[in-house]
Amino acid sequence: MTALGADLRRGPFRAGERVQLTDPKGRLHTIVLAPGKQFHTHRGHLLHDDLIGRPDGSTVTNTTGVEYLALRPLLPDYVMSMPRGAAVVYPKDAGQIITMADVFPGAVVVEAGVGSGALAMSLLRAVGEEGRLWSFERREDFADIAMANVRLFFGTDHPAWTVTVGDLVERLPGTVEDGTVDRVVLDMLAPWECLDVVHAALAPGGLLICYVATTTQLSRVGEAMRAHGGFTEPSAWESLVRGWHLEGLAVRPEHRMHGHTGFLITTRRLADGVTPPLRKRRPAKGAYGSSGEGEADDDGAPDDDPVSTGETAEEEWTAEDLGERVPSAKRVRRVRRAVTQTSAPPSL
Ligand SMILES: C[S@@+](CC[C@H](N)C(=O)[O-])C[C@H]1O[C@@H](n2cnc3c(N)ncnc32)[C@H](O)[C@@H]1O
Repeated sequence: MTALGADLRRGPFRAGERVQLTDPKGRLHTIVLAPGKQFHTHRGHLLHDDLIGRPDGSTVTNTTGVEYLALRPLLPDYVMSMPRGAAVVYPKDAGQIITMADVFPGAVVVEAGVGSGALAMSLLRAVGEEGRLWSFERREDFADIAMANVRLFFGTDHPAWTVTVGDLVERLPGTVEDGTVDRVVLDMLAPWECLDVVHAALAPGGLLICYVATTTQLSRVGEAMRAHGGFTEPSAWESLVRGWHLEGLAVRPEHRMHGHTGFLITTRRLADGVTPPLRKRRPAKGAYGSSGEGEADDDGAPDDDPVSTGETAEEEWTAEDLGERVPSAKRVRRVRRAVTQTSAPPSL
């Protein structure tokens, strides 16, 4: 039996699939192949029919003699060029999440929010058809975009995937049986609000990984994990990937790179009735607030600290406050319309 979607990653180009064209200057253009259609630039056009049926890795020439290299997008290419509602988890971070969270074939995974579906694709590949991915997204329009993106990538609805529209805190308890989940991945503004439902859903030893964009979120979710009492000491990191220019004797790092995407933080669910082992080191003076109040108790836990208990005065955590780009309603409507119209599975 062939694994789901594997056929679509091999063989000649087919109508309905996405193809990446590289022009002589290295610029990328992504098109969805359709019989009779043309790809236009200000320097001529080429016929989609010239690509349909040709092998992956072919070149085609347009009406003014410009040559394009045509390749089937890899998962990272697909993610970076697919239509987006929300910002996506970059491939470098998706790789970290799959490996560091030990997402294994057959695993039961909960993900929120699903956003544009980028991380869902990596998670579905990792759990496979024998696993289960429960994705939650509170915006119906984003969920539609994600489902269309994932359907086009796998060529069909993935049998291991369930998308629930609604807030994770409200919908997780009635949707997934308590104590049955191996891994939870949260990519959202306020993951600390979800710790109780995540704790209930996870099996003992199960792992929670959160992806957050700012240090303020990282601090708050880390302290909330500690204060919860049902999780192990969290560990946090970021990854930086620097591309290299490789040409003759000019072998050096690229001048530009993505300086920042997000931070990752993991923790494990303790068995019921187990208290987290004491931290060996006391937090540095001032680590829990500059006023001197809320210093650590003898057990190393901060005392009455609003940040650590997650009871901070109710400031608003909005995408704008955190400096995230927020797509306009008009743009999301346009993307949703475009992507749902082109998500018919390619014919084999
Ligand atoms: C940055 S996006 C996720 C991107 C996604 N991981 C991807 O790779 O495409 C964050 C999403 O979380 C959703 N969200 C935020 N809080 C949520 C909650 N409590 N329950 C469900 N979805 C939530 C937002 O609507 C938004 O679409």
